[in-house]
Amino acid sequence: MKYLVTGVTGQLGADVAEELLGRGVVVFGTGRKSSPPQSLFGRINFSYTPLELTDETGLKKCFEKAAPDVVIHCASWTAVDDAEKEENREEVRKVNVESTRVLAKLCGDKQVKLLYISTDYVFGGDADEPYSADCTDFAPLNVYGATKLEGESVVREFLTKYFVVRVAWTFGRYGNNFVEKMLRAAAGRTSVSVVDDQFGTPTYTRDAAKLIADIAASEKYGTYNLTASGEFVSRAGFAEEIFRAEGMSVKVEPVKTSDFKSLAKRPLSSRLDTSKLVKNGFEELPDWKDGLKRYLGERKNYI
Ligand SMILES: NC(=O)c1ccc[n+]([C@@H]2O[C@H](COP(=O)([O-])OP(=O)(O)OC[C@H]3O[C@@H](n4cnc5c(N)ncnc54)[C@H](OP(=O)(O)O)[C@@H]3O)[C@@H](O)[C@H]2O)c1
Repeated sequence: MKYLVTGVTGQLGADVAEELLGRGVVVFGTGRKSSPPQSLFGRINFSYTPLELTDETGLKKCFEKAAPDVVIHCASWTAVDDAEKEENREEVRKVNVESTRVLAKLCGDKQVKLLYISTDYVFGGDADEPYSADCTDFAPLNVYGATKLEGESVVREFLTKYFVVRVAWTFGRYGNNFVEKMLRAAAGRTSVSVVDDQFGTPTYTRDAAKLIADIAASEKYGTYNLTASGEFVSRAGFAEEIFRAEGMSVKVEPVKTSDFKSLAKRPLSSRLDTSKLVKNGFEELPDWKDGLKRYLGERKNYI
């Protein structure tokens, strides 16, 4: 089997490519950077092509060269606040919507499976219950979420053999993620302020990558929510767990999202219901606290 994975220089794509290589399949990876991340460098069955996604001709050539059986589209504009800036909006759409459209058409023409990575940000975050995978009460609060939702729509428009997989609150080796931000913020301090009214499920990208590889290898098409298991937690609760696991005596001062000034609005509830995965025979991910512990242990080897 041959896989084309976009965004292998990013947090999730790197782990997805690594997981697939561990399963003995051939992986063509793309990213904007001139070379792949260290963990993929020189790996057997792996080749890397620097590619600007908005270059339609380049994207088509890359697809033809790879001749994949499956495409896993991890690449995306992910800078949520920058996406709000007027001067960036057209580019954000090109990356998140138009490049997805090109890929979806290519996959449709060649009967190739496409797995599109999406986000909890397609929802408005004001629901009392966790969002089910098939919930269509979309209400993105920001440009990033709106363009990811459009990406979902073009995938559904062009394909029957597709997976839309929404992840949330991810952390992994190659990301400027919440865990890293908290550890930086707490360095040399006795307290940090963290919002306590945003709720979700932190998810280690290594764990997510395993399930993404399982889904992509299946014929169980459709839309899934994919997060770790365990109780939903607030950002403040997540920060407390990070400091506890690291043995740091840092106090978390709870604050409200409305106290923070940011360009993009963020959903308060990122609680995703992942039961559709289990119903379709996929194995539930470990508890997020378990993923966090492993991440904190493993990051010491590469920082
Ligand atoms: N992080 C989260 O908490 C979170 C939550 C929900 C959903 N997601 C989704 O998960 C997926 C992966 O996100 P991530 O956390 O891995 O993000 P990331 O670390 O920011 O990685 C983004 C990837 O996209 C590539 N990329 C961005 N713009 C590009 C362009 N114009 N042309 C070519 N490549 C481009 C980047 O390439 P370079 O690095 O080489 O520039 C990088 O490989 C995305 O679809 C995102 O929407 C993430």
